[in-house]
Formats: sequence, C-alpha cells, structure tokens
Amino acid sequence: MKRQIITTDDGSKTIHIPEWNEQYHSKHGAIQEANYVYLDKGLIGFLSSDKHQGSIPNVSILEIGFGTGLNAFLTLLYAEKHQLAIKYVGVEAYPITAEELQSLNYSEVASDNTSELFNTIHSVPWETFETICEVFQLKKQKKSFLEIDAIAEFDVIYFDAFGPRVQPELWTEAVFKTMYTALKTNGVLVTYCVQGHARRAMISAGFTVEKLEGPPGKRHMLRAHKE
Ligand SMILES: C[S@@+](CC[C@H](N)C(=O)[O-])C[C@H]1O[C@@H](n2cnc3c(N)ncnc32)[C@H](O)[C@@H]1O
Repeated sequence: MKRQIITTDDGSKTIHIPEWNEQYHSKHGAIQEANYVYLDKGLIGFLSSDKHQGSIPNVSILEIGFGTGLNAFLTLLYAEKHQLAIKYVGVEAYPITAEELQSLNYSEVASDNTSELFNTIHSVPWETFETICEVFQLKKQKKSFLEIDAIAEFDVIYFDAFGPRVQPELWTEAVFKTMYTALKTNGVLVTYCVQGHARRAMISAGFTVEKLEGPPGKRHMLRAHKE
C-alpha cells in the first residue's frame, strides 16, 4: 500500500495511507498525541497508580504497531530523564523503509541532540533485546499482532493499531483477550480509539475500561485495566 510523509499540526511528521485515508498518528500533532495518550495516560498513569506507587523497579511495555518508532523514542527519553528501567517490545509486521525513516523529524521536534538515539532504535537488529541506553532495552518483533502469545509479561500495552474503520479485525474480543493474557495483573492498556464496539470487546475480554479526556483534537481516549 502506498505511504506518504505528511506534517502534523505540532510540526512533527507522520505517515499517511491515501488508500485508507488513515495516518500513523493524529493530524493534530503526532508527538503531542503520543506524549498524551501513551506516555501521560499509559506509562505515567501506570506508575502513579496507588496499586504500585514506588514499588516498580522496572516496567515492561508492549507496543501494538511499532511503526515509525515514535512511541518507543518518547518512552526512551522519559526513561533516561527519570532513570527508570524499561523493557520495551514493539510488534510490527510492515516496518518502515530507510527512505521513510530519513524523512521523519522526531528528534528535532521532541528534544535536542537525540538523533543518534532515534537512529539506534531503528538500526538495532530485530527479534532480540538490544540495549539502546543504560535504562532502555528494546526488542522489535516482525510478526502479526495475531501471533502474540505472551502470558503475564507486560505492565503497559500501547495499543496503537490502525482504527477499526480500516482494520476491524484488530479490535475484537479475541485480540483483546490476547492483550489481557499478555498483561500482568494491575497492568493497563491505552489507546486513542473510543469506538463503542472496540470498548465492548475490551470489556468482554475481561478489562475494566475508563474513558478519559482525549489529546488535543480528540474528545476522548480509553484506558483499560486488568484487575
Ligand atoms: C497506527 S500505526 C502505528 C504507529 C506507531 N505506533 C508509531 O508510533 O509510528 C499501525 C501500525 O500497525 C502495523 N500493522 C498493521 N496491521 C498489522 C498486523 N496485523 N500485525 C502487525 N502490525 C500491523 C502497521 O504497519 C503500522 O505500522
């Protein structure tokens, strides 16, 4: 499928799929959305929950749709700043090309002098844990989401698949059961999507789901808990 690079409202780039009229991130701001949905409401929300405040020596994160590596990059910057040990698994069936990578501007927009870190995320081999910096270990897995078989491995899931309008098969009870099984007890899953069918599929899979205020340009987002 054809993919084009576009610029979002906060100046950061994303990838647009004309055939689907779908983007990898919000047109209102790729970095802004990623920071809000995945960092603030996902990782930081998890860390600040009363259930484990102060008792988490390290955090394991599963990303559904590694894509451009933006969520992994912002999580790495957070981990470095707060000296938080993170093990991060990014699943992706259709990795971006070297040419697409060259066109992204996340290190320029997000933080100074971080282009080397961003490039390292992309240059390390797939399928094994690689140390990107002292506190951040990354494993990129090239496979379908439907092949995930982890059991109680992750604290946080960044569920960043394309929306149910274009990939309804990824927003089903069966997929959310896989996510539920992959999470540890007290783990959380966050997503930008609030579609009713997807929300009901999460509840049927066992999650308790909260609707939160969304990032700029979106009214709501979802956070699902494994209790
Ligand atoms: C919304 S984009 C992810 C954006 C990504 N989180 C980022 O920060 O760039 C969805 C991603 O899911 C990938 N994808 C779509 N269907 C998939 C599948 N069945 N299995 C694995 N990856 C898939 C796409 O290639 C795309 O990279």
